[in-house]
Amino acid sequence: MGIDLDISTPEGWHAALAALRWQMELGVDEFIGDTPINAYDLPDRKAAPAEAPAATPPKRAAAEPYIPQISPAERAAQAADAAVADAAARAAAAANLDALREALAGYDHCEVKKGARNLVFSDGRPGARVLILGEAPGRDEDLEGRPFVGAAGQLLDRMFAAIGLSRDNPDLQHALYITNVMPWRPPGNRDPSPEEIAMMRPFVERHITLAAPDVIVLMGNTPCSALLGAKGILRLRGTWTEALGRPVMPMTHPAYLLRNPVAKREAWADLLAIKARLG
Ligand code: URA
Repeated sequence: MGIDLDISTPEGWHAALAALRWQMELGVDEFIGDTPINAYDLPDRKAAPAEAPAATPPKRAAAEPYIPQISPAERAAQAADAAVADAAARAAAAANLDALREALAGYDHCEVKKGARNLVFSDGRPGARVLILGEAPGRDEDLEGRPFVGAAGQLLDRMFAAIGLSRDNPDLQHALYITNVMPWRPPGNRDPSPEEIAMMRPFVERHITLAAPDVIVLMGNTPCSALLGAKGILRLRGTWTEALGRPVMPMTHPAYLLRNPVAKREAWADLLAIKARLG
């Protein structure tokens, strides 16, 4: 016979506890419910599958230094910055043109160098009043190790001879000094990329400072990008501007003049402007 007690109230809970204690004092050691249970229907405890072992928490990796994840574009930008910083340090340390040539020869960040036969550093006379800055060596220049020796170079020599200037003139007043933005021949004569121009810029600036010309002539787009940060040679040509504290004249490249002979008339006007500037 069961006892109905409401254990949800404090009184009922205490009454139920007292009843349970009293029954235990009487020797009750088993409860029999009102509804019989068939023990054969109960699940076999022995046959029950062993409990799966508690999942072990994943081991934490041994402490490793934190390496921030960066994208390939960020990695490339960092490499480009490092290449420019190295170029700037090497160029600044060069006390004269021979040291600058050595600094360029030891500079390995520029991929173009790997495909070139020779370093094409310069030609003509350091200290000449006019410095010509070209783009990059072509095949002939790469083979010979001197700038502007191919067909475009021969036209360049004739152009400047027409205003009384030449590479090896013993008189510095009438001499030329010639160099390029890129001292190695790019594969397939492609234009140097903006990243390559940025790497070469510290060397070019140091080169100009050490050669100390009165006037700089920029031949084509690449030197305009490097020194003026501007493109569009057909718009820039013929107008004096300034870079590194020196007067600068952008001109169309002689290779362009070979392909477009009608443009020689404007080039002649630019040469006359240079001649007038030199006095
Ligand atoms: N074009 C250039 O700009 N430089 C050279 O040395 C030869 C061709």
